[in-house]
Amino acid sequence: MQKETLLTGVQTLRKRARQRIDEGAVTAGYSADRETVLKLLNDSLATEIVCVLRYRRHHFMAKGIQSKSIADEFLAHSNEEQGHADEIAARIVQLGGEPNFAPDGLVSRSHAEYVEGESLVDMIKEDLVAERIAIDSYREIIQYLGDQDPTTKRMLEGILAVEEEHADEMADLLEGLPAELKQKKGT
Ligand SMILES: [Fe+2]
Ligand SMILES: [Fe+2]
Repeated sequence: MQKETLLTGVQTLRKRARQRIDEGAVTAGYSADRETVLKLLNDSLATEIVCVLRYRRHHFMAKGIQSKSIADEFLAHSNEEQGHADEIAARIVQLGGEPNFAPDGLVSRSHAEYVEGESLVDMIKEDLVAERIAIDSYREIIQYLGDQDPTTKRMLEGILAVEEEHADEMADLLEGLPAELKQKKGT
């Protein structure tokens, strides 16, 4: 007796692949709610763009004796957030959507906030908060996707791991700052 498997037969796979070829990478086997996934990805795209801008601002505004290496780290993070934005935008297109880069409403679409911060400590704290927001939102989206869209899920897992490194680095920077800086207002 032939063993039953849960896999779709090759004839069905071939037939299905020929239908709706205008949908590109999105096939009949795509079981996630595409509209919802596109919305979540566009919100994440907005989050990444806000993070690019916030870290960029912090890079140029970081002043003080300790600031050189911190400013460099802000720039490195800004560039990595841009990389995330690009990955997400490419996936949106693969799924048949359109990446939303519109400046109007960017901050309200984003999960993380754009806070300029007055001192170096404020900046690091705001970046740490934003990373923690990104971590929680990516974790939730990953859980929501489950096994319905493994490619998007894998991409977001990669991004999540980097956001965790970012948060860790910001926490280390905060820890490493001299006490007199940390005790400034707002701490
Ligand atoms: Fe990011
Ligand atoms: Fe980040």
